[in-house]
Amino acid sequence: MIESIGLTKRYGPKTAVDGVSFTVRPGVVTGFLGPNGSGKSTTMRLLLGLDRPDAGQALINGHGYRDLPAPLCEVGALLEARAVHTGRSARNHLLAMAATHRISRRRVDHLIGLVGLDEVAGKRVGAYSLGMGQRLGIAAALLGDPEVLLLDEPVNGLDPEGILWIRNLLKSLAAEGRTVFVSSHLMSEMALTASEVIVVGRGRLITSGSVDEVIRGIGAATVLVRAAEAARLAQAIAAAGHQVTALAENTLRVTGTDSTTVGQIAAAAGVALSELTPQQATLEEAFMEITRDSVEFHGGGGARHGTGSPVRGIGSPDGGERGIGSPDGGGSGGPAASATATDGGAQ
Ligand SMILES: Nc1ncnc2c1ncn2[C@@H]1O[C@H](COP(=O)(O)OP(=O)(O)OP(=O)(O)O)[C@@H](O)[C@H]1O
Ligand SMILES: [Mg+2]
Repeated sequence: MIESIGLTKRYGPKTAVDGVSFTVRPGVVTGFLGPNGSGKSTTMRLLLGLDRPDAGQALINGHGYRDLPAPLCEVGALLEARAVHTGRSARNHLLAMAATHRISRRRVDHLIGLVGLDEVAGKRVGAYSLGMGQRLGIAAALLGDPEVLLLDEPVNGLDPEGILWIRNLLKSLAAEGRTVFVSSHLMSEMALTASEVIVVGRGRLITSGSVDEVIRGIGAATVLVRAAEAARLAQAIAAAGHQVTALAENTLRVTGTDSTTVGQIAAAAGVALSELTPQQATLEEAFMEITRDSVEFHGGGGARHGTGSPVRGIGSPDGGERGIGSPDGGGSGGPAASATATDGGAQ
């Protein structure tokens, strides 16, 4: 188990981590999410005793990292995969680490095979690609067969096969009862890998919970409904007090209620439905929404408009969205494109 209890870290005037408390439980993969500069790596360094907190406490299985007698065997960490002596081979790097904890040469060879570095284990690490470096970092984290794993952006630089491999590896390590804490910028990847998430922004905890809870927390569930008499159905739904938007020919999106209610309204109005689909926001959409006010570093141009209200695009795969009564408001690329179209005066 990992516990962050009111962790706070300041660098000069900058508060990188600001009173952050959370618990990472064993048996599940927990994703650590937040925009650039939100304090993820700093929190991980505090948990590993690499930085001293200005306030609060970091505990791994109830102890501070520095008090662990054999840290590699209790917590495996990947922070900076490239922070390795570049003149050493991967095998020698792992052997040197293993020697500090009386870990066997056999274990080193097993891990080199597990991460797929057999062919290059004798080569200088300085000549490794980004993905090879990440694989070596993962081997180092697993060296002591630790109960707790703490990985900062482990899929960075991995190819699709590598990403799939890491996903399955992390899930299987969690299924063995280990505590797996992993930060990432790839929301779609986290949605597939993590079952719990902790979200930070500007050094503060924004939310935590299961992926489903976090998505439901933004209250963006919608219902997609299709009917030949869409206009009449839209009137009935609006009359019942729900927000309804025309998406495309005969297709409506209803916000703020569930599919059962929409079905009942349609039945009462005598409108036959050809589709009735509850839709949930993706983790990425939820992330964009809940971190909207915490993003410090924005890209320029139209993209920033797009991040302003990302959940509007939910349930609108084609993005072509028209409000009821505004037939001229069509766009074809989701909220970002609509905003750009407005700015750029698209015809
Ligand atoms: N050693 C340091 N000295 C000064 N400022 C630092 C130091 N480490 C981190 N910071 C600052 O603390 C804040 C949090 O940085 P951190 O690296 O923890 O963010 P992050 O969430 O890991 O970001 P990213 O997603 O880009 O990796 C940033 O503003 C950063 O500039
Ligand atoms: Mg970081």
